[in-house]
Amino acid sequence: MQVQLTSPLDMHLHFRSGDMLKTVAPLSSKSFAGGLIMPNTTPPITTKEVLLEYKQEILDATNGDNFTPYMTLFFKDDYSYDFLKSVKDEILAIKLYPAGITTNSEGGVSSLSIDNLRTTLEAMSELEIPLCIHGESNGFVMDREAEFIPIYKQLATAFPKLKIIMEHITTKASADAVLEFDNLYATITLHHLYITLDDVAGGMLQPHLFCKPIAKRPEDREALLNLALNANEKVMFGSDSAPHPRSAKEAPGCAAGVFTAPIALQLLTQLFAKHNKLENLQAFVSDNAQKIYGLKPIEKTITLEQKEFAIPAKYKDVVPFMANQKIEWRIV
Ligand code: NCD
Ligand code: ZN
Repeated sequence: MQVQLTSPLDMHLHFRSGDMLKTVAPLSSKSFAGGLIMPNTTPPITTKEVLLEYKQEILDATNGDNFTPYMTLFFKDDYSYDFLKSVKDEILAIKLYPAGITTNSEGGVSSLSIDNLRTTLEAMSELEIPLCIHGESNGFVMDREAEFIPIYKQLATAFPKLKIIMEHITTKASADAVLEFDNLYATITLHHLYITLDDVAGGMLQPHLFCKPIAKRPEDREALLNLALNANEKVMFGSDSAPHPRSAKEAPGCAAGVFTAPIALQLLTQLFAKHNKLENLQAFVSDNAQKIYGLKPIEKTITLEQKEFAIPAKYKDVVPFMANQKIEWRIV
């Protein structure tokens, strides 16, 4: 049996820079037509000059593959209208991180009050630049995402023309909230459709499944599956593939992030097939994102076949999700 996907898109993707980028970028560009590239590099992407350099670095690393890096800026509360206007044609979105909430987010915003964010958000709204948000409070780890929902609602109400994407949602509360406002959308990762907190810490600790936001309860995963498998138009695929070298994962003080890019399409196909929802996969991995962001991705057809495939133990120095496990689908 075969499945064909047209121009799959990964709308939340970490490429890093330097050698890591050279390792991981081709693993996405081989099977995806484009991806939304996160700006939490070191240092983060906050100027046009650095943005263009970074884009070129990505194009060099994915040379020859039909792959569009959709670029993002790292949100700052003091971006001027003129600056945003000058950079608008080079970016697809701006990503907001609360300060210190995840990997390389120390320079994020420290006050999420509407007053503090107003200047930048008004400019974004007027220039029609979507806002992507890592929505977690600094409260108890299991409650962080739910505690952030009132902020999403305030922003959605205060800036009704601003498209707001709730990144990597992990809870039933977020799955409900995204449906409540016309201008709220969400990405869902592969790993949050597969795992719960039990897989991370219920037995022996699994550092390669540790990420932000942490995987939650079975009923939360159920709510995400319900949106993704039915390809609800408010959600799209964003892997949040977040590579870290093995030494940073298999260590005290394990870095947060799950590396899924090279096996994302295979495992999504396996999941949708298992639930008899293959007819909705195209919308979840491409069509919904095209509508939400107004994209016309390059034409690229990816064929998957139902044949056993063993996920490699590592890609260079990075251990992927479900390393060494046998799965049922592979890319032709
Ligand atoms: C991401 C990373 O490593 O950049 N980590 C993660 O656990 N998801 C950052 C992020 O998206 O939170
Ligand atoms: Zn991320």
